[in-house]
Formats: sequence, C-alpha cells, structure tokens
Amino acid sequence: MSIPIIRTVVELRSIVATWRREGFKIAVVPTMGALHEGHLSLVRAAFERADRVIVTLFVNPKQFNSAADLAAYPRTEHDDAAKLAPLGAHILYAPDGAEIYPESFATTVSVAGVSEGLCGAYRPGHFDGVATVVAKLFLQTGADLAFFGQKDFQQLHVVRRMARDLDIPIEIVACRTVREKDGLAMSSRNVRLSANERQAAPRLAEILFAAAGRLAAGAQTDDVLAEARQSVLAAGYRDVEYLELRAEDDLSPLDTADRPARLLAAVWLGETRLIDNVSVEAHENAARTFTSVPAVAA
Ligand code: PAF
Repeated sequence: MSIPIIRTVVELRSIVATWRREGFKIAVVPTMGALHEGHLSLVRAAFERADRVIVTLFVNPKQFNSAADLAAYPRTEHDDAAKLAPLGAHILYAPDGAEIYPESFATTVSVAGVSEGLCGAYRPGHFDGVATVVAKLFLQTGADLAFFGQKDFQQLHVVRRMARDLDIPIEIVACRTVREKDGLAMSSRNVRLSANERQAAPRLAEILFAAAGRLAAGAQTDDVLAEARQSVLAAGYRDVEYLELRAEDDLSPLDTADRPARLLAAVWLGETRLIDNVSVEAHENAARTFTSVPAVAA
C-alpha cells in the first residue's frame, strides 16, 4: 500500500475538484514532515470528520529563525509516506518550493496580537512565516477542515485568527498534545536530544502539570511561576525563555487562573528548544493520561 505524492498545485486542485463533485468532505493536516505519533493522531482525528484526508509536507523556510536550524530540520519524506499509507491518508501533498513561494513572491500574512509575546517574542517573523504558509496551504487544498495539535498552542491561535480574518472557509480543529509514556510532548525536535537530555526532558511536563495543579488550587501565580522556573533549571535545562499563565481563549496574560487558562513554556535543553503547555483547569485528567491515544478537543 502506498500514498500518492503530489508536487504541484495544479495536480492537487484537479484531484480536489473530483472529490468536490463527489460531495466529499475534505480535511488537511499541515506538517513539516518527520512524522511522529502526534501527527498520525491528527490524521486519525481527521478521518473521524472527513471523507478525504490530505497531509501536507513542506519544510517552510519562512518560519525558521536561522539557516542552521532550517538545514538541521529532519527531512524524511520516504519514511513519512510509509507511515501515512497504512492510515489510508489519500494524498501526501509535498510541493516543490516554487509551488509555495514562486519567484518574486511578495506577500506576508501577519497576525497581530496573538503572534506577539511567548514564542513570538523569541522568534521574530516566525508566526508571519507560519500564517503565510498555512494560508497558502488552506487556499491550495480548499479543505473544509484543518487539524492542528495543541502542543503549538500559540500557532493554533494564530492560524484560527488568520483563517477567520481572511474569511477562509475552513474549520480549525484542535487536537490534544500526544505525549510519550513518560510525559514528554512529542515533537520532531526530540530526536536531537542526547541520551542524557532525553532522560531529563520529561521533567518539563511534570513541572508544568504540578504548577497547573497548584494554580487550579488557588496558589499565588507569581510564586508558582517562579518556583516552576527554578525547578526547570534545577532539572538540567539550560534556559527558560518563558513560563507564563495565559487565557485559553485569547492568550491574554493572566495574574490568576480565574478563567480557563494555560501554562505555557519554552525552554532550552542543551542545544534543543522545547515547548509545551498544559491546561490549568483540566490538569488532573491530563496528568492521569500520558497517552498516545488521540483525543479531539474543542
Ligand atoms: O506545526 C508545523 O509543523 C508547522 O508550523 C506548519 C503548521 C505545518 C506550518 O509550516
């Protein structure tokens, strides 16, 4: 069993037009490849809502902050296609660079507000790159539904706002973060961790879940955040870029978790930057189920 790999937007649109004539509901799962169980869970979730599933694979140069990071990003198309085929995904759309950014491409999609702060403060231009490529992928595929993981929680907000502001008729479906058995959030960057770093890595999630528990129980936010930061550094992480409490619905900064909230962090373990976030309200359920079973969240 194999999955067709489509390289051009003309070919993609012709297939999608056929599906439309047949009345199929179409989902897209945007990725940069190096697929892991988190991505595969998005594909499975897509099948629960759609008749046809397109997975996109494009390592988007516009969202990287350094040429070295872009060059080091894993490129595993052959393996990715092999992982998707048994799931029955209908198309792997892996466009050539010029299909996304043709010569003299001059447009940037920039989402104010939700792109600022958190990762936006440390990765200038990153969310412009994400919003631009995702807008193109939405318009090229013409999908009805798009599936994103909550691990990239700020990205989810950026994409939602972008689609809404540009009247792109697509429903953004958020799916829970998939974690390794020890709690580490799955990420294509985890393969860069050394054996020692991999051992220390799950401490981030543990610390976030514990801090979320204390916040939900009414502990003082400043104290909890300061102690969580200290715990991360004590666990062997090199740096904490941010560890913040934000509102679940619009990412505004919160002094107290008096409305649905998220605790979000970006940290450095050696030369690897890791991000994670946990829900403050739902922390007890989430903490109990470090699971690879996908679950769709509203
Ligand atoms: O989350 C990712 O893998 C990327 O940011 C995305 C959404 C595929 C855009 O390049």
